[in-house]
Amino acid sequence: MLKVKKIIVGNWKMNPLTLKEAEKLFLDVAKNVSSLKKTEIVICPPFPYLEKLRKISKKIVLGAQDVFWEEKGAFTGGVSAKMLYNIGARYVILGHSERRAMGESNFDINKKIKASLEADLIPILCVGENFRDETHAYFNSVKTELEECLDGVKKDFISKIIIAYEPVWAISSTLNHHSATSDDCQEMNIFIRKVLADKFGVKIKMPRILYGGSVDDKDAGDFIKNGGIDGVLVGHASLDALKFSKIVKICEALNK
Ligand code: PGA
Repeated sequence: MLKVKKIIVGNWKMNPLTLKEAEKLFLDVAKNVSSLKKTEIVICPPFPYLEKLRKISKKIVLGAQDVFWEEKGAFTGGVSAKMLYNIGARYVILGHSERRAMGESNFDINKKIKASLEADLIPILCVGENFRDETHAYFNSVKTELEECLDGVKKDFISKIIIAYEPVWAISSTLNHHSATSDDCQEMNIFIRKVLADKFGVKIKMPRILYGGSVDDKDAGDFIKNGGIDGVLVGHASLDALKFSKIVKICEALNK
């Protein structure tokens, strides 16, 4: 069976403040990972930096942090999937909890996923519950997100998508956040596969599944080794070139 390539994604969010800083951070990572071969590395900077960063390294693939579902036209402030593809982005983070908190619905995300696939951009679909309690209702909230966000997506496209399980309570920007464990991650990973098999059939080729939520160079190895996942989505630690490169190297070493 063909081995699935592990992937490390850096989500810079709305950082850094200047193009100069962005170029330095990107270049520092690029230098550190230049000899690695087995791990796919994706960095998702703010829109204005994409085109400049693309010229710095071929090894690091670029992604965006959002997209609008229409291709072009009178949509002030919108950036389309085709535009992103045309300037060199190949991935796009969709449904991040920080965007959901600003009002983005599963219905919106569904349209963004379809538009991205249409333009050959790979969606990194974020799902994850806000909190956990003893009733285990969190399984249902992840199930609803998956079902609604992927509704009407063609079976054959499912394996192209990346699912990032990001429990909101573990993301560093959440007040009083606390760490998830590789067991939490493994459990949800199995559950996500089950939801996808129930919706699209047991024969579908599964997408890659990532974990995200305060991942750093101390725990990335545990998540990758014991969480049953195909990589990690890294937020704040991706703003530190050394830490991010270390995470990539840990993944590479585990990817035998
Ligand atoms: P974090 O962010 O690693 O800073 O928790 C992850 C994310 O929000 O994608």
